[in-house]
Amino acid sequence: MQYMGKLEFAGKSVVITGAAAGMGKAITVNFLKNGATVVAVDVNESALDALGRELKENSTEDIVKNFIPFVGDISRQEVNEEMIEKAVRATGEINVLVNNAGVAGHSEPVTETTNEDWNRIIDINLNGPMYAMRAAVNKMLRQENGGSIVTIASVAGIKGCRSSVAYSVAKHGLVGLCEHTAYAYMHKGIRSNIVCPGAIRTGMTSKPELESEFGRSRIMSGMDPQFVFGDTADIAEAVLYLASDRAKFINGARLVVDGGISCN
Ligand SMILES: NC(=O)c1ccc[n+]([C@@H]2O[C@H](COP(=O)([O-])OP(=O)(O)OC[C@H]3O[C@@H](n4cnc5c(N)ncnc54)[C@H](O)[C@@H]3O)[C@@H](O)[C@H]2O)c1
Repeated sequence: MQYMGKLEFAGKSVVITGAAAGMGKAITVNFLKNGATVVAVDVNESALDALGRELKENSTEDIVKNFIPFVGDISRQEVNEEMIEKAVRATGEINVLVNNAGVAGHSEPVTETTNEDWNRIIDINLNGPMYAMRAAVNKMLRQENGGSIVTIASVAGIKGCRSSVAYSVAKHGLVGLCEHTAYAYMHKGIRSNIVCPGAIRTGMTSKPELESEFGRSRIMSGMDPQFVFGDTADIAEAVLYLASDRAKFINGARLVVDGGISCN
């Protein structure tokens, strides 16, 4: 058995979607600090530029050199294929995919859901990760050491009552996508795991005025009134662990990271 050094991802390439803000940013910085080469994908070009500047000001040369920003909308199939190619070009392999990017609805139930909202949320939160997973697994199957995929779902992916209907359906779908992939390729050295965050302080949770009143009261129903929020670092640590060889026998797991709120 080897003792783990700090740079356990040195020489590995990692693709992270939604990398410019919130959890994606924390996940990106954590992988960079652990030696990875990161293809950081985000639709928000200025936020990605700002992250690049922040890294230059606060990090070592190696970290800056290993940061590969890529502007793209993950609801488009070709963006997902290009981001995986970029990782392979950088290090020769794609070792880790983190499906993180997602958008929330406004807690609408089915009667208040427009086709436009439904399609946008399903496209970004479910179709995009499927395109990414297919592109990554196709490469990982040809690699000697397979690879690891970590997908950010939500507690709304295991309970039907904590978000808009489109969001909940997309996140339930992600759980199915990840578990299916875990089982289908378990003899091929490819692991696929799911992180289900509860409430984490990010841009996504800082706009309560966007919530529909009907939906919000349902989201909060039965919850502890002293709502517990987590930090992006809590999610970044869970993702790093699941992606690493330390979790080599963990495949198809749903790791709930919510401080306990869903235990009611
Ligand atoms: N914040 C929470 O409490 C919470 C809870 C459970 C699950 N989640 C999930 O965690 C993930 C990250 O959420 P967050 O709170 O950090 O969100 P956030 O809004 O703070 O950041 C999301 C990032 O994804 C990017 N993005 C959005 N659409 C994109 C697209 N089409 N293509 C590429 N990039 C895109 C945004 O530009 C942004 O940088 C999401 O999948 C979200 O559903 C969040």
